[in-house]
Amino acid sequence: MKILILGSGGREHTLTWKTAQSCAVDQIYCAPGNGGMAQIAQCVDLRVDDLDGLADFAEQQSIDLTIVGPEAPLVAGIADLFARRGLPIYGPTQQAMQLEGSKSFARDLLRKYSIDDIRFEVFDEAGAAKAYVRRRGVPIVVKADGLAAGKGVKVAQTIEEAEAHIDLCLEEGGFGSAGDVVVVEECLVGPECSIKVFSDGETVVPMVSSQDYKRIGDGDTGNNTGGMGCYSPVPALDQATFDYIVEKLVKPTVAALAEEGYPYVGTLYAGCILTDKGPKLLEYNCRFGDPETQVVLPRLDTDLLEILQATVEGRLDEVEIAWHDARCVCVVVASGGYPDKYETGKPIIGLEDAAKLEDVVVFHAGTAQQSGQFMTNGGRVLGVTALGETFGAARERAYEAAEMIDFEGKYHRSDIAQRTVEAEESV
Ligand code: GLY
Repeated sequence: MKILILGSGGREHTLTWKTAQSCAVDQIYCAPGNGGMAQIAQCVDLRVDDLDGLADFAEQQSIDLTIVGPEAPLVAGIADLFARRGLPIYGPTQQAMQLEGSKSFARDLLRKYSIDDIRFEVFDEAGAAKAYVRRRGVPIVVKADGLAAGKGVKVAQTIEEAEAHIDLCLEEGGFGSAGDVVVVEECLVGPECSIKVFSDGETVVPMVSSQDYKRIGDGDTGNNTGGMGCYSPVPALDQATFDYIVEKLVKPTVAALAEEGYPYVGTLYAGCILTDKGPKLLEYNCRFGDPETQVVLPRLDTDLLEILQATVEGRLDEVEIAWHDARCVCVVVASGGYPDKYETGKPIIGLEDAAKLEDVVVFHAGTAQQSGQFMTNGGRVLGVTALGETFGAARERAYEAAEMIDFEGKYHRSDIAQRTVEAEESV
């Protein structure tokens, strides 16, 4: 089979690495790819927003399956375009993508089908939104309706903060059309966790659980990032809670989308908060997580390509999906200054030695190769990932490997998966 993988981050390197293990694969292309993906696939100079260019390429090369990493091309309708041109693609249609692309669509759907009971209202006028905030009190959450590069959500601790975010969205155009509507909703309190599933529109099969770290600093301090590390499974998530999320939240959501006429085909990512009233949906993302993919796919025993192909062909129920018990930890190594201003083009050393460590894989995110030398080419540079029988062992290996790698300005958190080791030690 010939496979095309879209994207250029750690998630996409992981998808490429796992897909390359399938004996059905003859050739993998990545568009645009990164330094690590270039080692196992052929990188093609096409941007993920060049939908027509990508469809032309898939047609010319007779690509058997295109796998989409990031959300932007899906929101722009790449799955619909490929379907119109008879090109197999793994990822939801534009209408199903509204689950991620419009917060009000997601909340309205969950309310309509009684999937959750979160208190929220939707506004396109600042005065009414502010009056609602004053009536409900704080803490309260104000969300720009559309995709806003992770900056559209404000957890407001004061009325002033909530009002300022409403103004930013509705009065000042701070997020363009993504902020033309806001959702104001109750603030959910409790530990976060996420569960991703494969869905062919009817059958839903969960992946193993994972948890990421969003803040830049140790102890969850500082600015939000794309994710500074991750682990799988989530010890705080017991089997009953896991089953509740899949059976009572995710499966009914997929059924609701089908009922609305938007069958969901692809990976669905349920971000949840474990409140004292039970698990609640914080948000849906319509794709694999990053860096969650880096700790989930190394635990997959089944051929990934077989699963994705069956999903696209609507026969996910025919595939037996198996995971192994190992613990997995990913430490993201970033450029100094990220997520604010940072420099790129720094030579990276120690990659080969780190990758030689047992049960370690170094996934590339922001890297490029110049004359055989890997250089930094983004904020998040690498996802240093290790498996182990215990979280202690996996974490030690991941940090040992991360310490063997160096470049000017290198930064990583030092507390990734620390809490899992503490949970292990307290048993
Ligand atoms: N790690 C969060 C995300 O992929 O959206």
